[in-house]
Amino acid sequence: MHPGIPRPHGSSRRDFLRQGLAGLAYLPLVGNKRWLPTPPAGPGLGFEAIPPSILDAIQLPPGYRHTVLLRWGDPVLRGAPSFDVDRQSAEAQAMQFGFNCDYIAFFPLPEGSGRPDQGLLLVNHEYTNPELMFDDWDPAAPTARQADIQLAAHGVSLVEVFCDAAGVWHALPDSPRNRRITGSTPIPLSGPALGHPWLRTAAEPSGSFVLGTLGNCAGGVTPWGTCLVAEENFHEYFGHRDAMSKDDDPRFDAHVRYGLPRKQTKYRLEAHHDRFHLGHQPGEPFRFGWVLEIDPYDPSWTPRKRTALGRLRREGATVGLCRDGRAAVYSGEDIPFEHVYKFVSQRAWTPNDRLANRDLLDNGTLYAARFGADGRGAWLPLAFGDGNLAAGRGFADQADVLVRAVMAADALGATTMDRPEGIAIHPDGGRVYIALTKNPDRDAEGQPPTNPANPRANNRFGHIIELVEDSGDLGSLSFSWSIFILCGDPAERSTWYAGHPKSQVSALACPDNLVFDPRGNLWIATDGQPDTLGMNDGLYAVPVDGAERGRTRRFCLGVPGSEVTGPCFGPGGGTLFLSIQHPGEGGDADQPRSSWPDGSHPPRPSVVAIQTDDGRPIGSPGPELRP
Ligand code: FEO
Ligand code: CA
Ligand code: CA
Repeated sequence: MHPGIPRPHGSSRRDFLRQGLAGLAYLPLVGNKRWLPTPPAGPGLGFEAIPPSILDAIQLPPGYRHTVLLRWGDPVLRGAPSFDVDRQSAEAQAMQFGFNCDYIAFFPLPEGSGRPDQGLLLVNHEYTNPELMFDDWDPAAPTARQADIQLAAHGVSLVEVFCDAAGVWHALPDSPRNRRITGSTPIPLSGPALGHPWLRTAAEPSGSFVLGTLGNCAGGVTPWGTCLVAEENFHEYFGHRDAMSKDDDPRFDAHVRYGLPRKQTKYRLEAHHDRFHLGHQPGEPFRFGWVLEIDPYDPSWTPRKRTALGRLRREGATVGLCRDGRAAVYSGEDIPFEHVYKFVSQRAWTPNDRLANRDLLDNGTLYAARFGADGRGAWLPLAFGDGNLAAGRGFADQADVLVRAVMAADALGATTMDRPEGIAIHPDGGRVYIALTKNPDRDAEGQPPTNPANPRANNRFGHIIELVEDSGDLGSLSFSWSIFILCGDPAERSTWYAGHPKSQVSALACPDNLVFDPRGNLWIATDGQPDTLGMNDGLYAVPVDGAERGRTRRFCLGVPGSEVTGPCFGPGGGTLFLSIQHPGEGGDADQPRSSWPDGSHPPRPSVVAIQTDDGRPIGSPGPELRP
């Protein structure tokens, strides 16, 4: 923890919970009384908040600039052709930067150097927008070429990047360290569900390796230098559930619970690949929804899917360390009324020995969160043999519990949340922040009512929860929680910006990715502002301690149709890498919404590198705070 950042006043936070955080009637009163004490000012934030924008250009505060570093279609493997929208092929795409860049992680080169100006960038490619990629896209008649290009545009890119003496970032497309993992790359499975009967298919009867990774949304970096990548909306790729034999196939109910479409999918891969058609290959979806572990520094080690973490439509996989050295991995399912999860490895990690940590994530316990009305909470183990997961309660063994982890969490009574997205662990180690992006269906007719952790009916704007693990230990099985921010127009009575005077905050809505900068400020990316606040989505920063706790500042706005994702600070915080995902979404060639970044159609999802003009750390008030 930075010495200048005071801890929040613990007893006051507990008092706050006791007074009934869930009762929104209390919140304006709490806010007016400046109920939280004012600790001494921390390093805080020093940039000027930017005004709302709907322009087709990246907006940043004065004194900041950005470089477009990697665009969809840019060559990233040696010999890759240049991008040509009219001459796309799966072979070319598999050697080029994929579509819809999302999570970003920076791995300094050489390994262990901590260098801020040279490294490997790992970037997820979450999904495709065929209507923007192909001028001749017809969902009623998708071509095999389009299906194969989409598969190649998914997955992960690893690209070496460097910052030159003039302070400009560049990608190195010829670096031998660069890699592409796509929707077709062979990937081994490991952990308790390896070889599970439901993971076996006619094409791969051992249930031990999978073709590809899909829906790669967010992820996390492990202390031993590998990267975790979550497979989020995998269910959207497998269509025609109606073609399954509902009465004879026990897998049908799991596909219903996981939301697999009854008819065709939006990507239409199933039109040309049997494994995406449930009538032909009903087992293929069980091979997705896992966490993929990649070693960016060791291309000779094959990435694998870690089944011990459970099969979820998982937004991300944020990694921290328990006090005893075990790994804790936090995830949410970004689906209305789904849950928050934590995985804790069985044994502690081994510093200074990469190989000793190779299989650390193959053993451990997955938990789901229950948020109590008293501001306390518990982590419920998804462990076969206990309580509602005992034999005779519908689960066969631990592998079955992991394959149907969502159903196991249901059985345990985990709290239904308003679409848990990003999760960030404070640099001091014991506080965890959870973004609940929104849930307009909360308390709608026939839908679950509000609960203390999700207190707003028709939650259009989302909120952020602050969870404090007991004893400040990520290995604890109980915690305290409170609401940090209830997002939305500050003029609305139901909003709450940690008690900060609402006249001083920047409005934000639909929080998605969360990340801390090296100085302990929380950064919040949004996904849903055009429909709620009438401005483009963007990136905000907010101190979580000190006098400025809760004072949000709008730092960046993306372009129309885009979501700003994957915020990643380089070492020292001097560069912020950011994905501009799905620019122009909602439009097409006939009705374009964006021509970013090239000023022409099609718009291209891209990673940008943001820096200050004078080399200060991003967001910092002055050069005296340089690390
Ligand atoms: Fe991929 Fe939930 O955002
Ligand atoms: Ca997200
Ligand atoms: Ca989102």
